[in-house]
Order: sequence, then C-alpha cells, then structure tokens
Amino acid sequence: MALTITPPSAPPFPDPARPLPHPDTGLPRLSPARIPVSATLAANEAQDARRRRGEPVLPLAFGEAGLPAHRTLRAALARAAGCNSYGPVAGHAPLRAAAAGYWTRRGLPTDADAVVCGPGSKALLFGLMAAIGGDVAVTRPSWVSYAAQAALSGRKAHFVPGAGGVPDADHLARALKAARAAGNPVRSVIVTLPDNPTGRLAPAAAVRDLCSVAEAHDLVIISDEIYRDLVHDPDAPFTSPAVISPERTVVTAGLSKNLALGGWRLGVARLPAGGFGRDLRDRLLGIGSEIWSAPAGPVQQAAALAFSEPPELAERVVLSRRLHGSVARAAAHRFAAAGAEVPAPQAAFYVYPDFSPLADLLLERHGITSDESLASVLLHEYGVGVLPGSAFGEDGGLRLRVATALLYGGTDDERHAALNSADPCSLPWIAGSLDRLEEVLADLTG
Ligand SMILES: Cc1ncc(COP(=O)(O)O)c(C=O)c1O
Repeated sequence: MALTITPPSAPPFPDPARPLPHPDTGLPRLSPARIPVSATLAANEAQDARRRRGEPVLPLAFGEAGLPAHRTLRAALARAAGCNSYGPVAGHAPLRAAAAGYWTRRGLPTDADAVVCGPGSKALLFGLMAAIGGDVAVTRPSWVSYAAQAALSGRKAHFVPGAGGVPDADHLARALKAARAAGNPVRSVIVTLPDNPTGRLAPAAAVRDLCSVAEAHDLVIISDEIYRDLVHDPDAPFTSPAVISPERTVVTAGLSKNLALGGWRLGVARLPAGGFGRDLRDRLLGIGSEIWSAPAGPVQQAAALAFSEPPELAERVVLSRRLHGSVARAAAHRFAAAGAEVPAPQAAFYVYPDFSPLADLLLERHGITSDESLASVLLHEYGVGVLPGSAFGEDGGLRLRVATALLYGGTDDERHAALNSADPCSLPWIAGSLDRLEEVLADLTG
C-alpha cells in the first residue's frame, strides 16, 4: 500500500462552537478541553514547593539528565549570541548537515535535506502527529506526552501493551482493526528506543515484528530515539525501524538527554527519503513555520558543534552513560531489596519498579490502593517524588517511574565529580540519597 497523509477527519479539538460556561458569571469562557500540566513538570513543581517550605525532598520524578552543559558547548553558545535572525524553518544548513552526519555514523545514511530541526524533539513530535493525521498507536506504558499531544491535535492515542517502548505486534494488529471498525483509523505508531519510562531497550525481533504490522496496515512509524546514546552497554545491539522500514519511518533525536541540554530546546527529525518523506517534511515545515518559526539561532550553532561529535563531547557522553547506569542500577537494587519487581535498567536514568507483590501490605499499612496513592504517600509522607505508572498509560497496578539523574549533586562541582568517578555511588551526596531511599522503602514496606 502507498503511504499517504490524510487530512484530519475529527472535528477540531476543542469544539469552538461549544465553549463551557464559566462558573463565575461575567468572566470569559474557557475551552472544555483542558490539558493539564505534563505529569513530570507538575511533579517537579510539587517537589520545589516542598523544598521552599524547608522540607527535605528526594527528587526522583523529573526526567532531567542532571548534568552541567559541557564548557565547549557553553563557549560555542556564547560566541553565537549575535545570531539573532530567524533563519530557515528547517534549521541552519550546518546544523542539518551535522545532524545528518550523526545519523550516518549510526548506520542511518542521511541527507541534510531530510533533516528538520525544532525547539526540542517534543515540538517536532507534535508537528509530526498533526502532519500525519489520524489516530496514533502508542505502547502501554509510554512517555507521558505522546497521548497528551494526540489529544491536543484532536486525535486519540490507542495504548497497546508492549515492552521496551515497542507495542507488541499481535496486540497492535488487533487494536488497528478495532480502531478501523470503530471509524477511527490509526495512521501512525510511536516507538521509544530505548524507552522512557521503563529504561529498557526492545530487542531487534520486536522492532522487526512491529515494522511488519506497520507495513501491512500502512502506518507511519515515529521512532523516538532521544535516549539512543544512553544505552548503558555501548555494545548492546540497537535496531532502529528506520533500518527495516526506511520508507515509512521518521526518527527523532536531540541533545536534551545525551548532552543534558534540555533547557536549550533543540531537537531534530529525520524524514524518510522519497516522495512521501518530502511531502511529510513540507507539511511539518508548514506547522513549524506557524508555531515556532525556527529553533533559537545561537542554540543551533552550538548544536551543530554537538552533532559533529568532537572527541571531548563524545567522551562526555561515555562518562554520562556510565554514571546513569551506575546510579540507576543502585536504585533498582534498593527497590528489589524492598520486595518490588524491577526490570534491570538498560538505558538512561530510569527505573520502573512494580510494587504489586507488596499490594496487601501497602493496603493494610498505608491504605494504598493504586499507583497514584503510592506516589502520593511517598511524596507527602516521605518527601520522595516519583511518578505513578498511570501517568504513562498504565491501567491499574502499582508501578512507579523513578528518575535517578537528579541525585548527581546540588552543584556543578558535585556533578562533575560524579561524572568523573568510577564509583559514583560511594560519593557522600549520592550515597546519602541512596541510603535515604533504602530507609524510606524499609519504613514503607517493613
Ligand atoms: C521519550 C521522550 N521523548 C522526547 C522527550 C523530549 O525531549 P526534548 O527535550 O527534545 O523535547 C523526552 C523528554 O523527557 C522523552 O522522555
């Protein structure tokens, strides 16, 4: 089947013809479609409020990479401060060429013309969903923003059980048929390689099966590879669907995680070669031109240097990966020792413990009935910020998403020491946080 892009079939969302009456008369009316502040950002704000009240906090909610910007990149950004024109929507040519080189070195030969840059890959993902149209299939569990972004553009996200960020192929095929029968055809599927929230990497076979279903049902595959450089074992095989189904796969990446530049807001998308890819690129550029115009000029210049991967930045990524792996594994051990089931972390700075073996005990001792009440007890009684699995689409269960990268230190000196240490968990500030975690879990489950 040929890939096509369909115009939205759903009415615009929210329906502007039916605004909700405001409860206070005489005030403007607001849309019925409320998108709450993203769960990770909201948890961060709750933690900050606790800290401001002088209460201790163990910050395990926010998926921030927790490391300083490398001095080479700071200098490049400062040098580029005069770059104040909007520039092309797709991004400066040197940045697109550098991003193309980044992917080419990873086995995905890329033409600079196939690259679109944006203010974070999050914005590009939203643009892609809007450009492709139709509903979207996502893994249960998957990153908080996919489903929220689908809702923002009037689409439905269909959660499909899966592992390591990839929906199970049989479940996906069934979900696609059901959605089509209900008149809501799914046009794209998002995979996360490696995955947030689980910190796991799907094996090649799962990616291959996913690609077969995508081909049979004419889906666009959006492969979110923002954590690709942070697989703890650098020799672990990594399979991108762009290798298996190049004509229908868009890859997104960025600098927020591998180089801890989340606040610089720079992401990149690699569109497929050929007519479909060009059409999708043009539509994405149309959307970008009306929302963000172009990524920030000075950031683009520093990002071009980052994507060219000079040795000092490549070394930084190697050190970060080692640090993320050490601390995530140490945290996973604490949860396992307390009786939770914990898949071994394989990538990034995420741990995904499941407390269901402790369900009876948690209910009896703390009245905990859900992942939300578990997260709430941890925050309000112990000052430990985590996210419930439900934020990632889990339907029941007692899973938590634990992000460990904000344990690296309170100052840049501490974070650099963590980065350069062969045994970061023995540094007093990291050891102290891990001890506190152990204490809390012992009290919660003891
Ligand atoms: C899976 C996933 N994709 C995308 C993003 C967004 O990255 P960016 O900073 O490039 O917008 C995040 C950030 O948490 C993420 O976890």
